[in-house]
Amino acid sequence: MTSLRWLVFFIVVPSVYAFAPRSLPSRVTSNLQMATSQQAFAGQTCVITGASSGLGKSLALALAECGASTLILSARSQERLEEVQRECQDRCQSITVHCITADLSQPESVNLLTKQTLAKVASIDLFIHCGGVSSRSRFLDTTLEVDQQLMQINFFSGAALCKAFVPKMPQGSRIIWISSVQGLMGLPNRSSYAASKFAVQGYCESIRAELALDQQISVHCISPGYINTNLSQSAITGSGKTYGITDATTAAGADANDVAKEILTKVAAGSVDFTVAATLSARVAIWLRFLCPALLRYSLLKRYEKSKVKSD
Ligand SMILES: *[C@@H]1O[C@H](CO)[C@@H](O)[C@H](O)[C@H]1NC(C)=O
Ligand SMILES: *[C@@H]1O[C@H](CO)[C@@H](O)[C@H](O)[C@H]1NC(C)=O
Repeated sequence: MTSLRWLVFFIVVPSVYAFAPRSLPSRVTSNLQMATSQQAFAGQTCVITGASSGLGKSLALALAECGASTLILSARSQERLEEVQRECQDRCQSITVHCITADLSQPESVNLLTKQTLAKVASIDLFIHCGGVSSRSRFLDTTLEVDQQLMQINFFSGAALCKAFVPKMPQGSRIIWISSVQGLMGLPNRSSYAASKFAVQGYCESIRAELALDQQISVHCISPGYINTNLSQSAITGSGKTYGITDATTAAGADANDVAKEILTKVAAGSVDFTVAATLSARVAIWLRFLCPALLRYSLLKRYEKSKVKSD
């Protein structure tokens, strides 16, 4: 390879990507942006999984602010869903909010969620699959049951819900699937999580063309970096226990309400696949994966080595 190509690969492309503005500064466009997502989601019927906390809750609140007409909120805890329901109604008096408890780790529960949803609404304009769980363990310490559980919660449940909802979605409606930066690169100690989120990316890419052509439904696959939520607290360890620790990276993560607004604004503007709240190093790593995979492999090895020294 010529030295010029090296220069482009390592310096110019990553810096243009890292520093290029993703949109106009928010202070210039915040009113304009709200207007666009308000136009896009006003009067819509939206279904959200994982809606009792974290990003799912923030998305529900943001949709209430955008004037959505009906929200169907799903998560495991009825009590916490009802709190979110009240907060949504505070933001928009005319909104109808239904709470449906479901456990995404149980296929029968997911089935019941589709039945109960379709009993409440005849059509769905927006389906957001946000419910998910992370993992924390070396692959050799991780039972196959944990791999399967993560695939069920993060991937199969969403696939089942899409299959049930798409026939009830009119032209122009949207599916937003919350993946992760880890659906674009596999960090050590996250094999189950990375596998389930890579599955989401491939699935979305594949169904996007089918749904665009046959049903005129758009599929958006979003890859957030660290957000300050309970995702690390509720992560599952190799033996199936709850990790129960808020990692420093998660605590220092972006505010979920800001991330929710950014997602809706970009989706309203027509973006399909994008990262949000990704750190500079995450964005560079994603580029390296395509431009120089050997360097990404090396940096993941170093990362694991460093973390081992810390935790041993
Ligand atoms: C994390 O979970 C606790 C209860 O387990 C809840 O009170 C809190 O609101 C959650 N935090 C976020 C950011 O959702
Ligand atoms: C990776 O997971 C193992 C358990 O499988 C744990 O002992 C170790 O501390 C973890 N390493 C990091 C950096 O989290």
